[in-house]
Amino acid sequence: MRTFTTFGILLASGVSALPGSNVGGAGLFEALSGFAELQCRGVSGTKQAGVPRKKPEDDNCLALKSDLRIWASTASIRSRSLDENLANVCAAGVNIAGFDFGVGTDGSQNVTNVYPPLQALGGPDGAGQMSHFVKDDKLNIFRLPVGWQYLTASNLGGTLNSANLQKYDQLVQACLNTGASCIIDVHNYARWNGQIVGQGGPTNAQFVNLWTQLATKYKSQSKILFGVMNEPHDLNVPEWAATVQLVVTAIRNAGATSQMILLPGSDYTSAEKFISNGSGPALLNVTNPDSSTTNLIFDVHKYLDSDNSGTHTECVTDNISNAFQPLATWLRTNNRQAINTETGGGNTASCAQYLCSQIAFVNANSDVYLGYVGWAAGSFSATYELNETPTGSGSNWQDTSLVKACIART
Ligand SMILES: *[C@@H]1O[C@H](CO)[C@@H](O)[C@H](O)[C@H]1NC(C)=O
Ligand SMILES: *[C@@H]1O[C@H](CO)[C@@H](O)[C@H](O)[C@H]1NC(C)=O
Ligand SMILES: *[C@@H]1O[C@H](CO)[C@@H](O)[C@H](O)[C@H]1NC(C)=O
Ligand SMILES: *[C@@H]1O[C@H](CO)[C@@H](O)[C@H](O)[C@H]1NC(C)=O
Repeated sequence: MRTFTTFGILLASGVSALPGSNVGGAGLFEALSGFAELQCRGVSGTKQAGVPRKKPEDDNCLALKSDLRIWASTASIRSRSLDENLANVCAAGVNIAGFDFGVGTDGSQNVTNVYPPLQALGGPDGAGQMSHFVKDDKLNIFRLPVGWQYLTASNLGGTLNSANLQKYDQLVQACLNTGASCIIDVHNYARWNGQIVGQGGPTNAQFVNLWTQLATKYKSQSKILFGVMNEPHDLNVPEWAATVQLVVTAIRNAGATSQMILLPGSDYTSAEKFISNGSGPALLNVTNPDSSTTNLIFDVHKYLDSDNSGTHTECVTDNISNAFQPLATWLRTNNRQAINTETGGGNTASCAQYLCSQIAFVNANSDVYLGYVGWAAGSFSATYELNETPTGSGSNWQDTSLVKACIART
């Protein structure tokens, strides 16, 4: 059992009497509730904008941790005990792939390969998979990749195709119905048919138009996260950051004022290259219309196989020392957070070893890492190298060995 001293330490910077400063508790939420009550009782000396003012529900860990981090970062004592006491990331889950099938790294999509992970549309039971992951594995976030061409029926810059959007929305609603958080992921590598967004390919206005429509549709859903783009690569980073800024502004102006937006760097969102190749420094400048960076979260990926491609069934590294450790330090220095929206490996002993190690590290640094999302379930079959699709139905599901070993929570 943990003992929560976090709030006492933080409050010590501004308040002398510490009601409930040593919150012995069974979990995060007791501590958070205690914290919120302190706020409600008017411990105002250290109150900061963005700190929750009413008693939180048990399920809004993401928002609370974000608020806590803002608060901690402005306190005069910034203690590692915050990280330790809030051990375990808020969000853990799996990608539910299928609407992205047919997308290549050049941003083209052969939409005839789309294979919706929905029984109603003739595919695998993605809704059942998500319910199982929530109920049996205590997972609480799903990423729902979709191709840009699919959403627009290949009409670049046009109105979203209502038939296709209605089908994708069935998956989004199935996700929301589980109570989990749901990431809208435009899976196009910052490209459309081989050409880069804002850099000779689709105009920024065309990309902004896509996001304005998506944000308008989902602006009232607090559990939606907007994943701006999957795995940009081989592009001009400062120009890409300027594109991301336009999208953030458009999402906020569409009325989605408080959901998280995931900001992707170049190099296939490599956690290892995020700082060194300029993405982090450039994306640090992206802000909300009110100049804050609240709920702007960096999106990183990191596979564990020999060439970091996520295409091999054996893993060779946990990539902590060269990626997740230096990134954690950088995030802490800059008072920012990241989420790993793709990680995984084969259903092998080596991948169980290294992925569990990577996840343990991310959990131990949960002040700067919001979560991890495994790649991938949904419409993948057992022959796929990185398959995480559970088998079964109803209330009887069987996980892959890697999900069982590392991704499921107890
Ligand atoms: C698209 O995929 C289908 C099904 O795999 C295939 O028959 C077709 O040739 C592909 N089209 C192109 C342009 O690659
Ligand atoms: C850094 O990014 C550039 C393009 O922005 C890319 O060409 C280059 O390969 C990247 N370098 C590394 C080491 O990944
Ligand atoms: C970020 O913005 C600052 C201030 O406008 C500017 O000096 C800096 O060059 C920008 N950094 C990047 C990497 O774009
Ligand atoms: C991280 O992964 C890459 C590619 O898989 C590998 O080359 C590198 O040596 C790894 N680093 C560490 C510290 O494990």
